[in-house]
Amino acid sequence: MTAKASSDGLMEEIVGLCKRRGFIFPSSEIYGGYNGFYDYGPLGVELRNNIKQTWWRDMVQRRDDIEGLDSTIIMHPDIWKASGHVDGFSDPMVDCRESKLRYRADQLFFAPVIVAGETIGYVSVVECPEQQEIAEKAAADIKRKAAKQGTLEPIVLKDYTESKPEEYVLIPSPATGKPGSLTAPREFKLMFETKVGPLADESAVAYLRPETAQGIFANYKNIVDTGRVKIPFGIAQIGKAFRNEITPRNFIFRSREFEQMEIEFFISPNADWKTLHREWIDTCIDWLVSIGLPREGITEDIHPEDKLAFYSQATTDLMFQFPHGEQELWGIACRGDYDLMQHQKHSGKSMTIFDETSKEKYVPHVIEPSLGVDRTLLAVLTAAYTIDEVPNDKGKVEQRTLLKFSPKIAPVKAAIFPLLKNKPELVERAQALYKKLLRRWNVFYDASGAIGRRYRRQDEIGTPFGITIDFDTIEKDGTVTLRDRDTCEQRRVTENELFQFLEEQIDG
Ligand code: GAP
Repeated sequence: MTAKASSDGLMEEIVGLCKRRGFIFPSSEIYGGYNGFYDYGPLGVELRNNIKQTWWRDMVQRRDDIEGLDSTIIMHPDIWKASGHVDGFSDPMVDCRESKLRYRADQLFFAPVIVAGETIGYVSVVECPEQQEIAEKAAADIKRKAAKQGTLEPIVLKDYTESKPEEYVLIPSPATGKPGSLTAPREFKLMFETKVGPLADESAVAYLRPETAQGIFANYKNIVDTGRVKIPFGIAQIGKAFRNEITPRNFIFRSREFEQMEIEFFISPNADWKTLHREWIDTCIDWLVSIGLPREGITEDIHPEDKLAFYSQATTDLMFQFPHGEQELWGIACRGDYDLMQHQKHSGKSMTIFDETSKEKYVPHVIEPSLGVDRTLLAVLTAAYTIDEVPNDKGKVEQRTLLKFSPKIAPVKAAIFPLLKNKPELVERAQALYKKLLRRWNVFYDASGAIGRRYRRQDEIGTPFGITIDFDTIEKDGTVTLRDRDTCEQRRVTENELFQFLEEQIDG
């Protein structure tokens, strides 16, 4: 029997497991934590690196049409003027003057409570999967308290950016439940500012990058001039990004310091961009499935044309069923030639490329698949977290918690156990195999406690394979026991078979 905790409890359980087993800690915890920042512990950093390395291997090294880049976090501030971030990269926020809490206006929902055609109050609720239910219950309470007879009209929630000025004083703050304390929506700049050089005036202002993409556009010319790239081709980058999010929340889903894996894929302006966009969407879905996300948990959110930025031809977000609901994981946007044209205009440098096939010169268009490392890690944890029941050493059925990570990204690939720790011949043989495996993969040696307990400890951190050295290994044919984490099935294999199997599973 396999089960997932209820969606409410699931996030709590994942956060608890991550803390307990050293995957993720709140940043600056000894000082009370720092909202929107997280640190990755010994297992977390392995998982994170494996996700990045697998992405890099599949998107850059195993393709001949994508080049890699590692640009700086702080770049010339004019880059952010050209890209539109200095003027436009902001979120609408609303403050509650009484509680001093701050909300993103597009995540704060409200509705009038109308009974028999008369508005008798307002309800408000912060975005969550149950928001409709919560709002309906609050509306029924208002009707009951007002002792109003008649039919309660359906509650139609709108986000706060759609509220009218006369409604600001009528909408209750979700913090206090009372109207009158919410401000009008105001734009809140998301870029972190810093100062570069000895001067502390405006001329020294620079920004921590809010996306890695602009580093790619800023280096596009360098790569075209120095590489052997031919249209269509891509430039990929993995790196930190920073956003002063108004409401960082849902663990590492929305944080203020995070990492992105982005590709700018340059195509001819005459190319069939719709087909290429579709191909990228499929490539991205296949990759997520290859690292262990269930296909049925991934859906596509196609942005309606009237909601697209003026320069954008199309955007599809890959959505994933996170513990807090279905949310964006990977954005795949067709951005036309907007970014390169802006940099051409602001830098005065030509961004044209000569297309060897069509013999034309043009500024290419771009398709941009943009994925967050931390969000991928949360998706992977969500998909992997499982509670099932298995028999223990004595045959009694027990509940166990396990992380069903794909071997490709599992932090520890295999654990090596001597059956007994007080038998030097078993220990020696197990140590020798451990050292051999360690040259290839991150494996773990554990000799302490009953074998069943050792298995459980590894199951909980998602180690896919357990390798036990027993008396048959040393007295008979040299084979070892290979245990599968998910099925608990065991089989005997030779050392050669073991290496071949692990190679296929981990590096395949
Ligand atoms: N260059 C395009 C771009 O940055 P985005 O939709 O703002 O687009 C792309 O971000 C991806 O980066 C998102 O799909 C998400 O995976 C990740 N991301 C964005 N903001 C994030 C945050 N505050 N915390 C964690 N991940 C974030």
